[in-house]
Amino acid sequence: QKKGFIFDLDGVIVDTAGFHYLAWKTLANDLGFEFTEEQNERFKGVSRVRSLEILLEIGKRKATQEEKDGWLISKNAEYLGYIEKMTKEDILPGVLDVLNYLKEKNIPMALGSASKNAQPILKRVGLFDMFDFIVDGNHVEKAKPDPEVFTMGAEELEIDYKNIIVFEDSIAGVQAANSVDMVSVGIGDASVLHEADYIFKDFTEISTNFLDQLINA
Ligand code: BG6
Ligand code: MG
Repeated sequence: QKKGFIFDLDGVIVDTAGFHYLAWKTLANDLGFEFTEEQNERFKGVSRVRSLEILLEIGKRKATQEEKDGWLISKNAEYLGYIEKMTKEDILPGVLDVLNYLKEKNIPMALGSASKNAQPILKRVGLFDMFDFIVDGNHVEKAKPDPEVFTMGAEELEIDYKNIIVFEDSIAGVQAANSVDMVSVGIGDASVLHEADYIFKDFTEISTNFLDQLINA
């Protein structure tokens, strides 16, 4: 049966988690509290609005909607400053080999990201044309762990959920894929991503043999 691959963006294809962290940290510091890299783990895969709620929880801050709207704009402005400087060099190790291998085999591929900045980032790193469909934070209502971003991708690719393979670096994303019986491949720390069907430290560990296994399963 025909398989389709869906890739998360932040933390899977590009290493933007550090940029999100720096921009949230500026906001936290402006509001008078600290925000550590360890706390940033909770922000992976989570929508922009939900991220702000978590940040305010960490700082024990209450805010009006107007304040929150302003902070979301200033955080994103700082983040955009970082992504403007991105180049092909910011694609994570091993990713291009995997994408090119699947492309050569004409395997349907989609992007499934919570980010509203997904398209400019893909353009900056030269991967905009790699995917048959891009589903991002501008298209979905419900954030991961809701599977909407992946089910929408599967429908665009016209492939059954059970024949979709999802690459994710966040717990929320792995849970989203698992909840609709897609195959989940976790990229990152095995202790964090243990719910995934397969786990790799990064894409350099993914062999063409493994990809063939998934394609021919
Ligand atoms: C996800 C990131 O991919 O996108 C989250 O893992 C981020 O950290 C979310 O909050 C939303 O991104 P953006 O670019 O729309 O603020
Ligand atoms: Mg991610």
